[in-house]
Amino acid sequence: MGYVKSALLDEKGFVILDAYDQTADPQEWMDIEYVDWKSSGVTRFAPLASAFGNIEVNGFWHHSPPRTDKDGVWIDSQVVKAPRLTARATEPGANVGRCRVIELQPNVYSDTLYNLHQDDNNRLNPDGSGWIVRGFFNLSDDAESFMTLREDRFDPTNEVRIALPAGTQIIVDTQRFWHAVWHKGPEPRYCLITSWESGPQLDAYIGKHHGTNAHENPYLAPEVIASAQADVQRRLAERAAALAARGEKEGEYDEGSIDPEA
Ligand SMILES: [Fe+2]
Repeated sequence: MGYVKSALLDEKGFVILDAYDQTADPQEWMDIEYVDWKSSGVTRFAPLASAFGNIEVNGFWHHSPPRTDKDGVWIDSQVVKAPRLTARATEPGANVGRCRVIELQPNVYSDTLYNLHQDDNNRLNPDGSGWIVRGFFNLSDDAESFMTLREDRFDPTNEVRIALPAGTQIIVDTQRFWHAVWHKGPEPRYCLITSWESGPQLDAYIGKHHGTNAHENPYLAPEVIASAQADVQRRLAERAAALAARGEKEGEYDEGSIDPEA
């Protein structure tokens, strides 16, 4: 049968919505409670919806019983402090799974490439239902930072770099793309990340906000890319050697709380 997908989103794997006027809203993300959760860099997370309404951010499939990234339970103590963020996450009317604000400390491009990962949103998602994708609403003003997407992890020629000024709204098939954010700083980056189920509601929302996958990459010097590519290969080799020294292989290492985000 296959999954229900958004045609526009499926074409390139991402859509960019109209920019939101972030300056008109209070900085609710400074008021909510964060938990330490290392993921794709130096990060903390503030959940608005979680598996059972607790302030924790683990993947729903790690809970008992395990389930897919849908039917998130809103956390009253967070929602009351972040009504605008909650309203934005629920505006599409699509099923919401995990919903949280990420705090990401500054990094460099080679960190970003090292942090590239694919999400696992559709684990346990039954065939015939809507494909889970993720909304990224940039809250802090990070015009020089980039959501970095690759269909092929090690191929820089297919890289998509989307700048992240405040109010940027993008939806990404994060299970399809290797992704991470290059955040230049100097302050932490804050972004609302929401798991949505694809379907008519999300399509209507994308249409309402003029979603487009037309995009032109900002320039990045070839020597910068080449240097970062080499650095990542070196770091991956070092990691593999460290794992081998412990008698482990990639994939067997228990990464504990690491839950890839962006
Ligand atoms: Fe991710």
